[in-house]
Amino acid sequence: MNAQEKRSAASKVFMTLGPLCAAALAFMAWRGRHYYLLPLAERPLSELHAALRPSGTLGLFYGIAGFTLIVLNLTYLVRSSQVRWEWMGSLRSWMSMHVFTGIIGPFLIVLHSAFLLRSPIAALAAVSLIIVVGSGVSGRYIYTRVPRSPQGRELELGELKKALKELQLALEAKGVELPQDMGAEAVSSRRNVVSALAAMVAADREEHRQYEHLRALVLSSPQLAPSAAGILPLARRYVTERSWLARYHELRELMRVWRFFHRWFSVVMLIFAVFHVVIATNVGPLGFSLP
Ligand code: HEM
Repeated sequence: MNAQEKRSAASKVFMTLGPLCAAALAFMAWRGRHYYLLPLAERPLSELHAALRPSGTLGLFYGIAGFTLIVLNLTYLVRSSQVRWEWMGSLRSWMSMHVFTGIIGPFLIVLHSAFLLRSPIAALAAVSLIIVVGSGVSGRYIYTRVPRSPQGRELELGELKKALKELQLALEAKGVELPQDMGAEAVSSRRNVVSALAAMVAADREEHRQYEHLRALVLSSPQLAPSAAGILPLARRYVTERSWLARYHELRELMRVWRFFHRWFSVVMLIFAVFHVVIATNVGPLGFSLP
């Protein structure tokens, strides 16, 4: 496992907690299915109405918990752009928290809504939330392709070149002769976002092909095959980091453009969500307007 793939303890906790929480919420949705499948007009007649309506005992809990997780989710922005203190945990751990809260929070909000959109503001908040989560999931694909330190910080070009050189020397010291066409330089490309995304998918395939080529070379060599277990992880990292280097500027630019949209959609979503909370707590019985 290479440094990029090593998971911190916090990441492991979130990766375990995520599926557990998702399963628990899916179970709650399934238990409430008789209520959630009723048309709006018939819901007040259900015995589950008092608990599962948005302002009910459980419905309100879902809403508050979901909103809290989304606010926590946004602390990633503060940690990544404002606070550089490493004692607060690595960016990689914060990213795991971000993904956890970014999926479980909206899940809770769906349960809070009881699978219905009643007011225009709530509908706008929900739609922008779907866009933010959708963009987050797709952005994660780009995120994992941008060269980073084990802590999750984006690598500078010089650092990447140095790491690649070290890998090259380590492989050569183990007797691996790297094919000539495997030297790489960062190239500046002027592709638009769509072709840059397509190039990223194509580069993934090329990376896989090159690794298989190196692997075959190692396994078919009587001198190298016995140490394959030590060589192959280095070879994989070498191929990956080489591919990063070749597309360094393009990947950083792609990430920058994507981050801009993800950030501003989340700000819009938050504004609608806050409006929704303010309206819900100021109108109607108990301060909550939803039936
Ligand atoms: C409630 C839902 C979410 C909100 C409000 C949200 C909001 C944000 C914000 C404000 C940032 C910082 C952008 C910046 O640095 O300018 C961010 C970054 C990011 N988010 Fe989300 N996000 C959500 C869900 C998700 C999900 C579900 C994923 C992935 C599965 C995700 C993946 C990412 C990634 C990869 C970054 C970029 C990290 C970086 O470059 O440092 N987000 N998000």
